[in-house]
Amino acid sequence: RVLRVVEELEEVCATPVDRLRQVVDAMAVEMHAGLASEGGSKLKMLLTYVHDLPTGNEKGTFYALHLGGTNFRVLRVQLGGQRSAIIGHDVDRQPIPEPLMTSTSEELFDFIASSLKVFVGKGDDVSELSKMGKRELGFTFSFPVKQISFSSGLLIKWTKGFAIEDTVGRDVSQCLQQALSRKELDIQVTALINDTVGTLAVGHYHDEDTLVAVIIGTGTNACYLERADAIIKCQGLLTTSRDMVVNVEWGNFWSSHLPRTSYDVDLDAESPNPNDQGFEKMISGMYLGDIVRRVILRMSQELDVFGPGPSKLHVPFILRTPLMAAMHEDESPDLREVARVLKDVLEIPDVPLNIRKLIVKVCDVVTCRAARLAAAGIVGILKKIGRDGSGGVASGKARPKPGRKIKIKRTVVAIEGGLYTNYTLFRVYLNEAMAQILGEDVAPYVIIKVTEDGSGIGAALLAASHSASSVVDT
Ligand code: BG6
Ligand code: GLC
Repeated sequence: RVLRVVEELEEVCATPVDRLRQVVDAMAVEMHAGLASEGGSKLKMLLTYVHDLPTGNEKGTFYALHLGGTNFRVLRVQLGGQRSAIIGHDVDRQPIPEPLMTSTSEELFDFIASSLKVFVGKGDDVSELSKMGKRELGFTFSFPVKQISFSSGLLIKWTKGFAIEDTVGRDVSQCLQQALSRKELDIQVTALINDTVGTLAVGHYHDEDTLVAVIIGTGTNACYLERADAIIKCQGLLTTSRDMVVNVEWGNFWSSHLPRTSYDVDLDAESPNPNDQGFEKMISGMYLGDIVRRVILRMSQELDVFGPGPSKLHVPFILRTPLMAAMHEDESPDLREVARVLKDVLEIPDVPLNIRKLIVKVCDVVTCRAARLAAAGIVGILKKIGRDGSGGVASGKARPKPGRKIKIKRTVVAIEGGLYTNYTLFRVYLNEAMAQILGEDVAPYVIIKVTEDGSGIGAALLAASHSASSVVDT
C-alpha cells in the first residue's frame, strides 16, 4: 500500500510535454489578460517604471538592501562606469529573525535600518554621510508591490510566510525612509524594485539579449521587458510610450492544467495565504520539502514501517527543501543520508532500505514536477514576447512544422535563487523540459544564464542609472 501511495503521486504529478504546452499557452493567455486590465487575471503583471536597463556606464557608490530571500542582505556597491567594472561590493547577510516576519511594520523596518546603519558604519563615517553627497540606496523588496513610481510603491500582499498586516497598502519605500530617519541615517531610497527586476538588470548588464529574469528560491517569480503598446491597461496613463519591465508575479498563476494533488490542497489550506500563490506552492523552495513531508506522513499512515514512536512528521515545514535535496541526491548504495535525515530531523529511526528508496522517489517526483512547471512558465513568457519560435500568442499561429525554416532571435533568460543554483537535479529537469517544449530547432536560441546577486548589484545598478549624481558618460 505504501508503494501505491507513491505510484498515485507519480500518476497525478505527471507532466508529459503536451501537458506542459497547455501550461505554456495558459501562461501566455493569462499574461495578456493581466496586461489588458487591472484584475483581468490572477497574474498581476505589475508595472515597474523601469524603462531603461543599466548600460554599464553607471558610476559611483551605492547601497542596496534586499528583503525577501532566504537571507536579508545589505550591500555597498562601487560602480566604475565601464561595462564589467563593478569595482567591488561588500555584503552582510543574515536570516530575518522569525518573530519579525509577523510583527509590526515599525519593528521590521527598524531592524532593517539598524542593520544598514551597522553596515554603513563599517565603510563610511555615518555622521559624515551628508558631506559626501547624499548616498543613495536601491531597495529590493521581493513581494508584490503596486509601484507608484520607480522609487515608491504600495505592498499588495505578503507572500513566503511574512504576515504583517499593517504594512499591506502602505508605501514600503516610505516605511524604509522613515526608519532611516529614525536611525539618523542620511541615505535616500532612490529605487524600489522586485528581485526579478534586479536579476534582469544584472543579466542585461552582462548580455543585452537578456529579456527575461526568473527567481527560483524561497519563492518564485519572473519579469520581462514588454513593448509599451502591449501594456494596454495603462495606455493613456504612461507619460512615455517606452517599453517597460513587467513583474509577472507568476507565483500566483493558476490553470486547470496544473497537476494538483491532495497534498497541494492540504498545504494550501493550512498555509497563511490559502487560495493564493498556487504556482509558487508547487515550485518554490519554501514548499517542496513540505510536500514531501506530507507524502511521507501519508506513507506512515499506510504501513507501520516507520516505527511505533512519535515522530516529527506532523510538524509543518520541518523537512526543509535543502534536506529534501540531500535525500534526493544521496548516491550512497545504502542511502545513508536518507536514513540520517529521517532519524535526525523527523525522528524516525531504522526505516528499511526499500522504503528509503521510495522516499527518494517521492523527492524525485515532487522536484521533477516543480522544475518542469517552471520551465513551462518560462516558455510561456517567451511565447508572449514571440521568442519561442511560434510567432507569439497574439498571432495565434500554430507551432511551425519540424524542419521548416524559422527565424529566431537569441534570447537569454537570467536566473537566480537558491533552489535553482543549489539543487542539481532541479536544474537538470528544468533544462531538459525547456529543450523538450521548445524543440530542437528553437532550444539552442534560448539560453538560461545564472546571474549573481541580482537583488543587490541589480538594485545598485538601477539606483545608479536613475540617479542624477551618477556620471553617465555615453
Ligand atoms: C539571490 C538573488 O541569488 O536569490 C535574489 O540575488 C533572490 O534576487 C534570491 O531574491 C532568491 O533566492 P533565495 O533562495 O534566497 O530565496
Ligand atoms: C514571491 C514574491 C515575488 C518574488 C518571489 C521570489 O513570489 O511574491 O515578488 O519575486 O517570491 O523571491
